[in-house]
Amino acid sequence: MIPPRADAAIGTIRFIVNGQAREYSGNPATRLADVLRDDLGLTGTKIGCNAGDCGACTVLLDGRQVCSCLTAVAQVDGREVTTVEGLAGIGALSGLQRAFHKHGAAQCGICTPGMLIAATDLLSHNPRPDADEVKDALGGVLCRCTGYQKIIEAVLDAAAAELPAAPAAGAAVGARAAKVDGLAKLTGDERYGADAIPADALWLRVVRSPHHHARFELGDLAAFAAAHAGIARVLCARDVPSNGFGIYPHIKDQPVLAEGTARFRGEAVLALVGARAAVEAISDADLPIRYTELPPVMGIAAAAAPGAPLVQADKPGNLLLDGWVRKGNAAAAFASCAAIAEATFESGFVEHAYIEPEAGWARRVGDRLEIHVTTQTPYMDRDEMALVMKLAREQIRIVPTACGGGFGGKLDISVQPLIGLAAWLLNRPVACVYTRPESMASSTKRHPSRVRIKSGCDAMGRLVAIETQADFDTGAYASWGPTVATRVPIHASGPYFVPHVSARGRAYFTHCHPSGAFRGFGVPQGAIAHEAMMDELADTLGMDRLALRRLNAIKAGEATATGQVLAHSAGLPQCLDALKPHWDEAIAACAAYNRTAGAKRRGAGLGCMWYGIGNTSLSNPSTMRIGLSAKGRLTLYNGAVDIGQGSNTILTQIAADALGLPMEQFAIVMGDTDLTADAGKTSASRQTFVSGKAVELAGRDLRAKVLTLLEASANAVLRLEGSMLKARDANGEHQYDLSWLPARSASDVLMGEGTFDPPTSPQDANGQGVPYATYAFAAQMAVVEVDCDLGTVRVLDIVAAHDVGKAINPIQVEGQIHGGILQGLGLALMEEYLPGRTENLHDYLIPTMGDIPRMKCILIEDAEPLGPSGAKGVGEPGLIPTAPAILGAIQHATGVRMHQVPVLPHRLRAAIKQAETK
Ligand code: FES
Ligand code: FES
Repeated sequence: MIPPRADAAIGTIRFIVNGQAREYSGNPATRLADVLRDDLGLTGTKIGCNAGDCGACTVLLDGRQVCSCLTAVAQVDGREVTTVEGLAGIGALSGLQRAFHKHGAAQCGICTPGMLIAATDLLSHNPRPDADEVKDALGGVLCRCTGYQKIIEAVLDAAAAELPAAPAAGAAVGARAAKVDGLAKLTGDERYGADAIPADALWLRVVRSPHHHARFELGDLAAFAAAHAGIARVLCARDVPSNGFGIYPHIKDQPVLAEGTARFRGEAVLALVGARAAVEAISDADLPIRYTELPPVMGIAAAAAPGAPLVQADKPGNLLLDGWVRKGNAAAAFASCAAIAEATFESGFVEHAYIEPEAGWARRVGDRLEIHVTTQTPYMDRDEMALVMKLAREQIRIVPTACGGGFGGKLDISVQPLIGLAAWLLNRPVACVYTRPESMASSTKRHPSRVRIKSGCDAMGRLVAIETQADFDTGAYASWGPTVATRVPIHASGPYFVPHVSARGRAYFTHCHPSGAFRGFGVPQGAIAHEAMMDELADTLGMDRLALRRLNAIKAGEATATGQVLAHSAGLPQCLDALKPHWDEAIAACAAYNRTAGAKRRGAGLGCMWYGIGNTSLSNPSTMRIGLSAKGRLTLYNGAVDIGQGSNTILTQIAADALGLPMEQFAIVMGDTDLTADAGKTSASRQTFVSGKAVELAGRDLRAKVLTLLEASANAVLRLEGSMLKARDANGEHQYDLSWLPARSASDVLMGEGTFDPPTSPQDANGQGVPYATYAFAAQMAVVEVDCDLGTVRVLDIVAAHDVGKAINPIQVEGQIHGGILQGLGLALMEEYLPGRTENLHDYLIPTMGDIPRMKCILIEDAEPLGPSGAKGVGEPGLIPTAPAILGAIQHATGVRMHQVPVLPHRLRAAIKQAETK
């Protein structure tokens, strides 16, 4: 250790980073995180909040974990700092890093450096911790992807872990293969949106409306820029060539920069571009902008009220969309029901809370625009940028960076049009990184909902009719509102066979940030309602809650509410059968506990779900290519962005087996719109099913070409040894030197290609049709403990049975389920975004490592013939059943059915007290 300096506050600060002596001569109050990243280039240390809430910036200071965003660089004078880049030995991973790789503990990887550092601190003084000690030590680092389970497993295994061997040729599908792109996430080498900004880039800061609703007038922006050193330009609405964007081709209602009216707090009004210090030094109060605050329309009831002020002048009744599904005659059928349940359920905004805020940079290259950005959907970004900039699609190149979490929130564009416009106009690279409050104020959220539902069954418990009216708050602009308003009625009956269904979905405009896509597109809110009805019907008839669900579970050969007859792969019955022993045991255990437990009571609940994979009633194609170079290198040209869910690995597994070569011989090019084909967006749980099928076809195509070249038979065993392509079949050995082939592209001599567009059909006026080619199914069971005096709920266990068609990679599937469960727990118990009040990660709470229940995954593989090796999808399904199961368990424990999520302690306590006084 080097000795501390007395004059640290005014002179050069000297310290050791990863074993090397370093100096810093700037402002001693500068955050250590900024010095590490900006001055020393150690971007493995991440910034998720800059406020001590997320732990992404955790480093070791003299061997103990600290938040480097809360540590002034002066505090490290004379001390030793270790970042993630310093954890590995020369050329070798630490045991902890190997364990993370083996267990699939890094999904998007943005939290991984902080997790690794916190675990290193723990293991340095406690080499054999137990799970509770791991939770204590790592509890300050938030992860939004993994559900924490695999991180804990990895830390417990750190002493023994070896890097997993790659599966052999032909054995990749179904293997628990480690991530093909996993190592960079463990060493700090992965580059996210804020990590590779060119040194000469200008900085862009967005000026946002402080009001939910306001008119505003701008002064002389050019004069303002000229009067402020370091400011290159102030952009406003009139600078944007076509100032409207949106998800749907016919709805471009959201301005890049607001034009005279701000419709939500956090809406972009101006963009300051210049030197970073200059744009950050300007106070919003000093800008030539004058707001006139107007009364906002807040909430569904206000928006739907007769005569309500219009959020968008051309949207009468503030109504974005009114979607229907009608089958049979639900209203008449209720007359024949032996039991009827009826209720209304409400939910609020939920924030995605990806740990990586929106970030990226852009540059002009001749008459083209190149944008490097964290995104879920490079091809939609490309098309949207072409519209906004009035350029041809070919003039736009999107290069996705690593994505530090998305969950649907990075499907809508954020920094893209602003940095693109600025770079185009100024002909300089321009970068923008949102702050955490800015990210939370401006990004989309889960739609708040009000779902009125009525369900009826016969005396045997068979469902007869379901009637649902689901209303959603879509915020100021459409975003994914139409998708939610159509997807929810389709799924409103739940995963059951119901002869008579009437389901309506409406989305209303309000003066809030747009609601968008968030893991489930409204289906989680609907599932809370239909699962509560299943509980109530079972209770009314005196039936077991699982038995009622099993009786009604839809099966292959039966028709959904849209009249679609499920041809294959409807695995809810198997999921429920797998849960039954756990359910019976849990019911008995809760009863035994409750006989003696006083104010604490335990309950068990169930949640079932189905989820249509991919776009709703729309073409949904993906194209994949696999190239083979003259040197014998395989490249998967993959337009599907891996946002942490593991699609790079899963697609490689499928490609490897389709081609018949081992997966470690593949390299990946991901998402670059100049180098890949359009694979569609990473959403709606579609990449394994849709892009997986496309890559399977591409692999078969390349295999056919290779076999033709080798004159080998269809079942030949392939080998690739440098440029020598070899095969063995019944006729003996075949070989071909790839360097003899003419180049087919810049790097490849052979190319296989596959395209898959799942067969769907449009819905008619009654919503009848085939909206999805296949559906995932799941049933989860929750066991909770409720403190009836405090109103607090602790989730003790979740058992999750999921029909995924085929688990291409069980580690990744389990990781998706674990992560979904934790987000579902947040939806049920703690997460409620309040515009203007919870714009940070200390007022907006997401589950921490201390909140996790015991989680058990049961994978059901009811093969879908359309999918690759029978696979469907699991991204959204992991979340959807969790909140219904928790609410059912709370009701079982307390007798109180909660009708509003999150079930915050004060709400539950009030409901229990009210029930006691009845
Ligand atoms: S960035 Fe330091 S705690 Fe979040
Ligand atoms: S892996 Fe932890 S936040 Fe994504």
